[in-house]
Amino acid sequence: MARKPIIAGNWKMNNTASEGAELVKALKPLVKDAKCEVVVCVPAIDIPAVKKAIHGSKIRLGAQNVHFAEKGAYTGEISAKMLKEYGVQYVIIGHSERRAYFGETDETVNKRTLAALNAGLTPIVCIGESLEEREGGLTEKVLDRQISIDFQGIEDFSKIVIAYEPIWAIGTGRTATDEQANETIGYIRKRMKKVYAHKNVGRLRIQYGGSMNAKNAKGLMAQPEIDGGLIGGASLKAEDFAKVVNFDK
Ligand code: 13P
Repeated sequence: MARKPIIAGNWKMNNTASEGAELVKALKPLVKDAKCEVVVCVPAIDIPAVKKAIHGSKIRLGAQNVHFAEKGAYTGEISAKMLKEYGVQYVIIGHSERRAYFGETDETVNKRTLAALNAGLTPIVCIGESLEEREGGLTEKVLDRQISIDFQGIEDFSKIVIAYEPIWAIGTGRTATDEQANETIGYIRKRMKKVYAHKNVGRLRIQYGGSMNAKNAKGLMAQPEIDGGLIGGASLKAEDFAKVVNFDK
């Protein structure tokens, strides 16, 4: 079965609830004929307003993080069950910003991913190397470590999405070339097949993320290993995001 492309916006800490609702209202008509899955991952407090605003459209709702415990004394955190009850279908886990600024580790990424899956959410798990690591020839070593820990215990890889986001390409305007992104995602897929054989890895979707935009989406999406994109800056304007979503038009 072919892997269906998935384009997801990661709004990060942008858009109030009313701004978010306006953005998706503008986006709705622009993506109504999209062939790919279209997702917006919004700040948790925007979820109710965005949910209402996307009603009746192709756009699906995602969150940007989830806690691993079912419930309890974790001030400020949000559980998978809370997201699920609100109609959230996807959740970004282990974004490099969370790893860098909020102490996220491979172990907590793994726990969050399993909690999301248990609740019936689709995790979009971010992995990728820093500039220093790439320049030091450590890309594969870093990816191997993330792959071996972040996905432990997962039984069916058709139920998750991986976003390969080289940290040096995030918010920098310095996109990986089509070939670089394809090659590294090909490496991730090969490694996943080896480490998680017989767990439906053939249906695993892997996105590229890092300065992907209206201009470079077509070239990246034409690469055989790339199944989609996780879009930061370019997801904050309806027209720009729609151009990425409509990469095949
Ligand atoms: P930019 O598209 O702004 O580089 O951000 C990428 C990203 O981090 C998506 O999660």
